Amino acid sequence: MLTKISHLDNLPSTPGKFKPDKSSPYINRLRSQSKLILWSSFFAAFTLLFYLFSTPFVGPPTSSRRALGSDSWGGRDWERRVSRSARRRSESGLTVLVTGAAGFVGTHISVALKRRGDGVLGVDSFNHYYDPNLKRARQRLLDRAGVFVVEGDINDASLLQKLFDVVAFTHVMHLAAQAGVRYAMQNPGSYVHSNIAGFVNLLEVCKSANPQPSIVWASSSSVYGLNSKVPFSEKDRTDQPASLYAATKKAGEEIAHTYNHIYGLSITGLRFFTVYGPWGRPDMAYFFFTKDILKGKPIKIFEAANHGAVARDFTYIDDIVKGCLGALDTAKKSTGSGGKKKGPAQLRVFNLGNTAPVPVTELVSILEKLLKVRAKRLVLPMPRNGDVRFTHANISLAHRELGYRPTTNLETGLKKFVRWYLDYYVEKKKSAW
Ligand SMILES: NC(=O)c1ccc[n+]([C@@H]2O[C@H](COP(=O)([O-])OP(=O)(O)OC[C@H]3O[C@@H](n4cnc5c(N)ncnc54)[C@H](O)[C@@H]3O)[C@@H](O)[C@H]2O)c1
Repeated sequence: MLTKISHLDNLPSTPGKFKPDKSSPYINRLRSQSKLILWSSFFAAFTLLFYLFSTPFVGPPTSSRRALGSDSWGGRDWERRVSRSARRRSESGLTVLVTGAAGFVGTHISVALKRRGDGVLGVDSFNHYYDPNLKRARQRLLDRAGVFVVEGDINDASLLQKLFDVVAFTHVMHLAAQAGVRYAMQNPGSYVHSNIAGFVNLLEVCKSANPQPSIVWASSSSVYGLNSKVPFSEKDRTDQPASLYAATKKAGEEIAHTYNHIYGLSITGLRFFTVYGPWGRPDMAYFFFTKDILKGKPIKIFEAANHGAVARDFTYIDDIVKGCLGALDTAKKSTGSGGKKKGPAQLRVFNLGNTAPVPVTELVSILEKLLKVRAKRLVLPMPRNGDVRFTHANISLAHRELGYRPTTNLETGLKKFVRWYLDYYVEKKKSAW
């Protein structure tokens, strides 16, 4: 064998120069051996890839994560980190569990809470719905701010239970969800996994906690679906969702009602309207338009029937954060304990929007101005993929009850987003903020 290998070693190494003698039995044997080796390597590589990819990226069931041994929580050091992160600076501060903390909104809210002295602990599955490097970069930012993000799924009851054993959370800011309207057509199961099963699992743990925390959670403007009465008010109908995403958020609102009714959990749902800003989500139009405009790629702009404009009530992240803090600060205590209701508890729903819808064509014009690049616009009829024609929030209830008053217009907010985008992606100065 060795001699054969050394013989091979003597063959010319430049591909194409060596022409083997097809009639040689040695060469034929050698060929069948290499074929065998080649096919075995293919088989081994295929088996490995199958094993790696057979676990869904988005919303893996807890059992398969455990089978892979990826659970990394538990132990004294871990508990110390959890407690330190959740420690509030003063007695009057809140102790908040933030789910989806490595997400766009979760990162901003966690930092804002920590800065004002509240105790904050994050949990996030770091799923691959969009670039996980961005989530890891947000995690580093949170780490610097003193917020520990536990890696785990909200469907993991034992993890959530453990967190409540270590920390007496006064509030839960629940943001973990499968977001995005169009992706629901590709991966419907991930919406059921995170937005329904995960939410129920979280509420189960909260209702059994003693004391029960107050819960503030992210619903969505998408619950208004095909509602055509503007501006959208909390009293309007929400029984015509246009996407599975919207349907799961609507289901969440009904589930919230049940847990409030049976167990006395204090629950506030916030219907966010198209949130944008630094550290945003790459699957959202303002984000991928920026990327494509800079690359000189055409961007698709949808229009409704009869050349009707598609418009959104774009809401800047800092305004959303203020609304969330307002909701946390005005949330009344849950009334139950140990899974038993002791009296009626607070149940609220608020719109958090900018109440100034802007056509998508104008969003593109602002981006062109800020990026100093002309976009290649491809105007197409709106496909039926879950998107709605326009959104417009009536925010008078949030103004009255939460003191919510958005102050950032689209041009100002996009200026801040573009500055961050260029810094993060172009200048690679990832420590900004
Ligand atoms: N950004 C918007 O415009 C907008 C509008 C309406 C509603 N919302 C809602 O606000 C919330 C936050 O949105 P975002 O824009 O920050 O989205 P995001 O995707 O950036 O954040 C959600 C985070 O939740 C995590 N997550 C998902 N499923 C999980 C699970 N099962 N267990 C643990 N973590 C899980 C993800 O990894 C992600 O980091 C979501 O509930 C979303 O539906 C957002």
